[in-house]
Formats: sequence, C-alpha cells, structure tokens
Amino acid sequence: MRPEKLKTRIFLDGGDPGETREAIRLLGFLDGQTTNPTLISKNPEARRRIERGEKFSTDEILSFYHSVVKEISGLIPKGSISVEVYADASTKAEDMLKQGKKMFSWIPNAHIKFPTSSEGLKAAQQATKEGLRVNMTLCFQQEQAAAVYAATRGAKKGDVFVSPFIGRLDDKGENGMDLIANILKMYGQGDGHVEVLTASVRNMDHHLYALKLGSDIITSPFKILKEWTEGKLHVPGDEYNYNAGNLKTIRYRDIALTKNWREYDIRHELTDKGTARFSADWNSLIK
Ligand code: E4P
Repeated sequence: MRPEKLKTRIFLDGGDPGETREAIRLLGFLDGQTTNPTLISKNPEARRRIERGEKFSTDEILSFYHSVVKEISGLIPKGSISVEVYADASTKAEDMLKQGKKMFSWIPNAHIKFPTSSEGLKAAQQATKEGLRVNMTLCFQQEQAAAVYAATRGAKKGDVFVSPFIGRLDDKGENGMDLIANILKMYGQGDGHVEVLTASVRNMDHHLYALKLGSDIITSPFKILKEWTEGKLHVPGDEYNYNAGNLKTIRYRDIALTKNWREYDIRHELTDKGTARFSADWNSLIK
C-alpha cells in the first residue's frame, strides 16, 4: 500500500504489461507508466517475433505499440501512460504533432512524449493548446526545462511533465540528481504547471533521493520498484544523504522563466544522441 509519507507519484518505466501487473501486485498501487521506443523493442512478444525473423511493417509496429499501451492503460485506468512519438534528426514538429494526436486518441489517459528539442517544443506548444497532455523527454539541462515551462505556459497542472534523464548524465560523469534539485528549485519561482518526472533511474539511491527531493513523479524500472518493496517502500527524510561519489556537481543557474521558449539555449548533445538511439531501436523492429 502507498506509504502515508509518500508525496511523489510512482510510475513504472517499461514496455511489458506483464511487469505492470507484477508491479501493481508488489506495490499495491501504481500511478502510471512511461514507455519509449527502446522499451517497446524489449517487449517480450516483440522480441519473440524478431527472433523468429518476422519484423513488423510500419503499420504493424504502430498497432503493436497501440495494443501494449491499451493493455497498460486498462491496468492503470486512473494513472498516466506516456506514449512516445517517433522522431529522428529530421522529424519536423508538424509530423510529431500528427503522430501525437493519433497516439493521444489510443487511450483516455495518455501523455505524449516529445523530445526537448526545438521541433519537439514547437510540437508540444501546439499540442497543449489543442488540449493534449505532454511529457517532454530527453531533458539534460535546466535551460531545456525552462523552455518546456515557457512553451507550455497556460496549460493546467497535470498536463505537462518534464523528464530529466539522471542515469545518462551519471554515465557521463555528471551528477544527474543535481539536475532534479536545480529544476525543482527553478520551478519554485513559477506557477507549478510543469511537473518534474525523474527518469533514467538506474539504482535505488536515485529512487530514494528523488523521493527526498520531492520530485512530483519518479519512473523506475521494474527491478528498482521490486527492490523498493523489499525495502518496505521506505520514504527517506532529512536523515538521508545522497552519495554522489566522484560525479561532477551540476551547478544551479539563475534562469528566469519569463522568456519566450525560443530564447533559451536548449541544445544538448545527449538529446541528439538519445533521439538517434530511440529511432534506431524503433527502426530495428521494422522490415
Ligand atoms: C522514461 O521516460 C525514459 O525514457 C527512461 O527512463 C530512459 O531510461 P534509460 O536512460 O535507462 O534508457
């Protein structure tokens, strides 16, 4: 059952409805799920099919993604399910928006994931104006989070998430958890319409520290959620200290949230690399 002290919403990061069922059984609750092209490419049914040498057509892979998301939505009908558009380096905002609208119609509780790139932000700005809920993915720096805030101004709380990717910053030797603390602090000056969704969680300390920091949402892989239940769903308080080891500190930057989103310097090499990896994993499934 949900611990009384727990303020953060807990999502499962995965593309297998079997894990969703098991996570609900272990935790006694689940507030949502995030999917992405890589996670869909790891779905056991998709794997079996690829191992048989039967790749999908473009229509088939979309209908497979639709069926996976529909099953997850049925398991978490009151939660939020993130569904990611296909984007590579040349995908335009109009195309992302078109895909996003289609995916949004798949289930009643979708958040559409767009990359935090200029095309992704353009798509998200229009999407929120048209009443779609969005989750801005592949966020690696405060400026990108400021641009998400600015591009979605006017949207209501609950309709916009930003997903800073912790593990991938750690992989580069930077303390990804600093980014969560910095974005939460920066958003403290705002109207609260964007919620921080801690993503790319790799270990229990990421999970626990995000809880202590008060991230609005955390999405953790099944193995971390399982480990958390083994630790009796501990919610750390002031006594908890995160040990960043040798990871380099990411300093807080004073960034005003009042600008037009196009004025922020949002380029980050990991956003480009992440887009390339997601599109390659998706394309590996297609004939
Ligand atoms: C979730 O929304 C993200 O896509 C996911 O957490 C990325 O995790 P990874 O960096 O381990 O691929």
